[in-house]
Amino acid sequence: MNIFLIGFMGSGKSSVGKRLASRMGMKFLDSDREIEKQQQKKIPEIFKKNGELAFRQMEKEWLQNLEVSNAIVSLGGGTPCFEGNMELIKQKGTSIYLILSPEAIVSRLIKSKNVRPLVEEYKNDREALLKVVEEMLNKREVFYKRADLHLDALSVDADKLDQLGNIIRSKED
Ligand code: S3P
Repeated sequence: MNIFLIGFMGSGKSSVGKRLASRMGMKFLDSDREIEKQQQKKIPEIFKKNGELAFRQMEKEWLQNLEVSNAIVSLGGGTPCFEGNMELIKQKGTSIYLILSPEAIVSRLIKSKNVRPLVEEYKNDREALLKVVEEMLNKREVFYKRADLHLDALSVDADKLDQLGNIIRSKED
């Protein structure tokens, strides 16, 4: 069974995904890193040279062609919200939505060294960033909420990871 971690930028999908994968002895994949390898370009460069629409196509194709069978997969924040991808995600595995408030997202995005083309220009202006995050999250939540499981992503400790692992294992039976 595959596990898909979905949620807004900065919600901790990759970090939770890596920790969960190592606890459960599963393979870990990050869609952004895989697309970067395929394209031999970093995400900001893809956005700059190819544009967001082309990136959404890349995400769709990557997901369609995904053939792993026992992996934890961290998806880009926009992946479930475009191109009917949420249907595919639900067909291909169990999905987990990492829930985080706009305020907490903003704090994490400001601290993060990752360059995220959709919010980069607002990083020096907390108020503007909060407004953008709130607007985007409003539009995207309808997709995220379709996930099979919802996880409070504010603090994910070892106990929470173990609980999640148990829920995942029980779904496999
Ligand atoms: C995006 C999220 C990013 C990355 C790209 C677009 C989005 O991934 O795919 O910058 O549309 O939310 P993370 O959620 O891992 O930051």
